[in-house]
Amino acid sequence: MTIHVLHVVGARPNFMKVAPVMAALARHTRVRQTLVHTGQHYDVNMSDIFFQQLGLPAPDVNLEVGSGSHAQQTAQVMSRFEPVVLERKPDLVLVYGDVNSTVAAALVCAKLGVRVGHVEAGLRSFDRTMPEEINRLVTDQLADLLFTPSEDGNVNLAREGIPAEKVYLVGNVMIDTLVHMLPAALARWQDGRFAVQGMTVEPGRYVLTTLHRPSNVDDPAMLEQIMAALFDIGQQLPVIFPIHPRTRQRLQNTQYAICSTQLHLLEPLSYLDFLALQRHAALVITDSGGIQEETTYLGVPCLTVRENTERPVTVTLGTNQLVGRDMGRLRQAADRILNGEVRPHQIPPLWDGKAGERIAELIVSGC
Ligand code: UD1
Repeated sequence: MTIHVLHVVGARPNFMKVAPVMAALARHTRVRQTLVHTGQHYDVNMSDIFFQQLGLPAPDVNLEVGSGSHAQQTAQVMSRFEPVVLERKPDLVLVYGDVNSTVAAALVCAKLGVRVGHVEAGLRSFDRTMPEEINRLVTDQLADLLFTPSEDGNVNLAREGIPAEKVYLVGNVMIDTLVHMLPAALARWQDGRFAVQGMTVEPGRYVLTTLHRPSNVDDPAMLEQIMAALFDIGQQLPVIFPIHPRTRQRLQNTQYAICSTQLHLLEPLSYLDFLALQRHAALVITDSGGIQEETTYLGVPCLTVRENTERPVTVTLGTNQLVGRDMGRLRQAADRILNGEVRPHQIPPLWDGKAGERIAELIVSGC
């Protein structure tokens, strides 16, 4: 009997997660797949370029919800997704990560009695001021199948009363994509140089940064302090900063809206360009979740501008350090790393490029 799996994605970090699961399921002839894009991210360089580079099929349905407040965006996904589920009648809906599209789709399915699987379940920052933490908590309560990337996810879910028989430790699907795409990313380095958006860098001779969390960029005073710290770090090595649209809006009309030799402000980068840059960065400074994981896999030092992380293995085993929102700590930690201080680190268990295959096997075997 055929199994119809419907995947829901919406925002940039979802695209890297769905790709290996779709590819693994496609190898099973019993599986039929549908891909729904909610349209939460809609810019070419936040969405289309990722579909192209990751080899994803064009979405079967685009809900075109676009931007809005949290309630508006979540409600739009729900009201536009419900008829799709009713019409397409999937056996299983897979949702990814912790964005608004994830929780909205899970809620629709739970109410319709359609089985939902959550890929990247169980992560907790224990900080309910983060919109993503609310999305994670609610999605995991609603899901019928919970695929965790690391053991801490299983521990968190057990503490919240989720029955162990629903939970499967499968490893990290984001790392599947990294493993698969790394050779193509490295091929973008030519003669020991990498050129992007009019600038050229050499291996180990730059710092790479991304920032888009509301807690960092929506508060003008905080954003100003972070930018000042990055500018200082840029005196040692140039800082490359591909800017998320949210951050771009917040930077408008500030003194940091213009490029300098210390701070290179770029448009958002494609998956391959960003991975190529991460691989040879002296240091990555971020508030992203996925980048904490990617730097851990690559063995590149990472400083996270957050008080907490839902990905603790990147700190206990990996290369990640939390510097909080204290810019003195950021400057000091960056200084130590740029002066050669390296911590011992290892790749977490099951971050081996095969998480998507494990998920596919479980689904096909009727879990
Ligand atoms: C969302 C996720 C976050 C994830 C991030 C990755 C939630 C709650 N947050 O945050 O977990 O880390 O995606 O990027 O789901 N915009 C554009 N073009 C786009 C998309 C957004 O210009 O293609 C602008 C809009 O003005 C929008 C703002 O960016 O209001 C924020 O977008 P939104 O999807 O609301 O949240 P992100 O900050 O991207």
